[in-house]
Parts: sequence; structure tokens; C-alpha cells
Amino acid sequence: MANHNSLCSLLISFTLFSILLSIIPTTTSYLFPHKKLSIESIFQFGDSLSDTGNLIRDGPIGAHNPCGSPPYGETLHDTTGRCSDGLLMIDFFATYFRLPLLSPYLNKQGNFKHGVNFAVAGSTALDADALAAKGATSPVTNSSLSVQLNWFKSHLHSICQNISVRKSLVIMGEIGGNDYNYALLQGKTMDELRSMVPNVVHTIKEAVKEVIDFGAKKVVVSGNFPIGCMPIYLSLFESKDPSMYDELECLKPFNELAKFHNDRLQQAIKELQQKYPNVAIDLMKMGFKKHVVG
Ligand SMILES: *[C@@H]1O[C@H](CO)[C@@H](O)[C@H](O)[C@H]1NC(C)=O
Ligand SMILES: *[C@@H]1O[C@H](CO)[C@@H](O)[C@H](O)[C@H]1NC(C)=O
Repeated sequence: MANHNSLCSLLISFTLFSILLSIIPTTTSYLFPHKKLSIESIFQFGDSLSDTGNLIRDGPIGAHNPCGSPPYGETLHDTTGRCSDGLLMIDFFATYFRLPLLSPYLNKQGNFKHGVNFAVAGSTALDADALAAKGATSPVTNSSLSVQLNWFKSHLHSICQNISVRKSLVIMGEIGGNDYNYALLQGKTMDELRSMVPNVVHTIKEAVKEVIDFGAKKVVVSGNFPIGCMPIYLSLFESKDPSMYDELECLKPFNELAKFHNDRLQQAIKELQQKYPNVAIDLMKMGFKKHVVG
């Protein structure tokens, strides 16, 4: 314990030193209009939209995931485990705040001085058990949101401080989309999916509470995007019935589900804003040009 404590003070003085040396960013009018933001680190939770290399280190199934091989990463000339040919949104956020790109938590050689990425491609908001109760299973990973939160706590414990959380931006999600994806692809009906929404949203809300209890002052919660415009759904659930499609040729019921989720999430965020008036909590809406749901 004595050793642990002296290691902690060493780390803390080292961190202060690094903070003095670094150029501390920055302001944004995008995420929090009219508020100056000084962000020293970012903690990201989520799934493939944000994973910078956890799934490929998550176990044997993850190690064989296509996101770990070309053409993924081709414009970076590197396969990092990002499920993208290039960078992800989180990379642009980090760059915006003039921070290094976030290392994935499971990369033991990672640089965690300015935050950690806990997101795992394929992960779900609900734990495997809760998902099973809804009749769905997660095929690629069991590192759901609660597992990611446990990593977050272990990380804070290992660096012996919570101060980094107070000066950080926490990005919660997008998470929960896979819960619906798996249920849908495993044959559940739209009504069954809608019945999952309160549990999924509740799980995300509790996760936000938890990071706030650890000192977070700025939290962005990402909504789901218009999944009815996703090529996988457009081809798997192609319909002859024109009333299934909206004016942009996207599948209406899927976008309505995303909207239902986002409306519930917005309500949960309102409740959190009331409960924690000193914490900036916002919903990030995502979409494709003309299409933003919720
Ligand atoms: C998730 O956990 C269950 C139960 O322990 C196990 O059977 C399954 O293989 C795990 N899935 C993955 C993708 O690791
Ligand atoms: C960080 O905050 C958590 C929750 O409030 C607390 O349990 C933990 O002891 C704190 N850790 C440190 C190192 O202050």
C-alpha cells in the first residue's frame, strides 16, 4: 500500500508537470455553445463507431474480426482495428481538442495520458444475460457497457486519481444500436425491439450517472443514427411495399425505432440534467446529411 501511495504521488507530480508543459486546448461552440471548454482528456465508451482497437485485442473471436485486416485502415496505411477505411469520429474530436488519438484500453502499450478509449466494436449496452432474456446474443464480444465501465474504474484506480475525469470529456456512445441490430438479425419483431428500448436507455443513463459519480463534468451522449438508411438493412429487409420507404428511400420502421430510442434517451438526459445541474450533459444527434433522427 505504501508503495502504491508513493507511486501515486510520483504519477501525480509527473502528471502536473506534463499538464504545465502541454498546450491546453481549447474552445468549441459545437458541442457546448457559449461555453469555453478546457479538455485535457477524453474517455470514450461505445461500439464499432468509436473502437480504435479494442475488439481485435478482446479475445480469439475479436482477433479474427475483419476490422483487423485490410481494406480496413487502408487510407491510414495501417490496420488499427478501426472498423473504417480511415479515421473515426472520435479521432476528429481528439484532433479538435489537440489531443493525441485515443489508445484502445486493451493495448497495454497505449498512451493513456490524455484519455482512454473503452469502446469495443460489436458491443452492446445490455449485458449478455439481459440480452439473452430478450432472446438475442452478441456474436462478437461480451465486453458490454458494464464491462467498459469496469475497465474505466480499473484505469482510474491504476492512475490513482479522479482529477483526470473532472477535466475530461466523456463520450457515451453511440451504444445500444447493436442490441437492436442483433435482435433484428436474430428474427425479433419491431414490437419486440421497441420493448427493449426502455432497458437499453436505462442502462445508458445509469452508465452516465456512474461516470458523473467519478467526477465527470462534461458528458456527451450519442444517439442512434437513421439505421433505416443503412445498406445492410436496405438489402436484408428490402420491401415491395412503397409505404415502407420514406422520401429518401430509407426504411421507415427502422428510422422510427431509432427515433423512439433517441426520444427516450433525450428524456433520460433531461432527467440527468435536472439531477446534476453542475454537469454539462448533452445529446449528440447523428445522421446522414438530410437525415437526423430524434
Ligand atoms: C460470451 O459469454 C458466453 C457465456 O460465458 C460465452 O458462451 C460466449 O462464447 C461469449 N461470447 C463471446 C463472443 O466471447
Ligand atoms: C474516485 O471516485 C470514486 C467514486 O467517487 C471513489 O470510489 C474512488 O475512491 C476515487 N478514487 C480516488 C483515487 O480518489
